[in-house]
Amino acid sequence: MAIPTSRTTEAAIVTIHQEPCNGCGLCVSVCKDFAFRLENEKAVLADKTLFGCVGCGHCMAVCPKEAIEVRGRTLVPEHVFPLSAPRSGMSYEHFLDLLQSRRSIREFRDMPVERPLIEKILDAAKTAPMGIPPSDVNVLVLDSREKNNAFAQDFCAYLKKMRWLVSPWFLAVMRPFWGKETDKLFRDFVVPFFSCLTDNMDQGVNVVTYDAPLAMYFYGSPYADPADPLIAATYAMLAAETLGLGSCMVGGIHPLIQRGKKAKQFRERHGIKYASQEGLVVIFGYPAVAYHKGIQRSFASVTYA
Ligand SMILES: Cc1cc2nc3c(=O)[nH]c(=O)nc-3n(C[C@H](O)[C@H](O)[C@H](O)COP(=O)(O)O)c2cc1C
Repeated sequence: MAIPTSRTTEAAIVTIHQEPCNGCGLCVSVCKDFAFRLENEKAVLADKTLFGCVGCGHCMAVCPKEAIEVRGRTLVPEHVFPLSAPRSGMSYEHFLDLLQSRRSIREFRDMPVERPLIEKILDAAKTAPMGIPPSDVNVLVLDSREKNNAFAQDFCAYLKKMRWLVSPWFLAVMRPFWGKETDKLFRDFVVPFFSCLTDNMDQGVNVVTYDAPLAMYFYGSPYADPADPLIAATYAMLAAETLGLGSCMVGGIHPLIQRGKKAKQFRERHGIKYASQEGLVVIFGYPAVAYHKGIQRSFASVTYA
């Protein structure tokens, strides 16, 4: 048995080298597939596991004796690398400073984002945790202002064909099904949002992706945990911040290109491989504005049970 993702339907194969194993039992603790047990003070494979190895690699990463090898589901033992020790990590204060000084940036200097920086953003985003390994996150990279604008223009042309979605008759028909909150959200947000995007684009102003020199669309697959692309996008955003880039999430594109024939055609035109439950476009670039103050934020609620 194996948990399927778009990249694999097989379980990974775990090999334990008995000689170096010191019987510490760490692999037994960390494996949530329950693939290990101890026998005569050595790790051995359990007779039965929960799902079959997903290839998270925890057993290899925790083993102090390099006694375990996992192969499969895109993972090979060569993917294990030493960490800088002791973890050099930034302090909470430095991390908080990074988070507090980040603002959504929609004004960009007329400068491309160089390929090495794009690779760095992707390398950082790849480290994001995922529901089930291997990551089922796909990324469409639009690595120039021209490509990004062409994408946004085509999105607006597509929106114009989908105007019925925000028509009074459609909202009236849907209200009993999706309830008064969604109805209000549509009337107060989605309807003006549609017009704002398309009317501005008609005037040559891109308020979909704001003329950014780089955009990345993170999306999943039919198997992906819906949260995966959102977590990867968040990592990408924070990585960009450390590289001196500004960024902004753009939530309005993904939900509108999921269902129907025209949406499928739009996805195909842009090399988007799957419809997916969740997804997010993030735009990046060198900021043309600097913020000198932070803004205190709060959650809707925090309840200690
Ligand atoms: C999921 C998500 C979707 C967003 N979508 C858009 C968008 O479509 N257009 C836009 O201009 N900003 C968008 N934003 C940016 C928010 O408006 C922004 O985060 C908010 O105004 C707070 O500003 P800050 O990020 O500087 O704290 C989005 C943010 C998130 C988290």
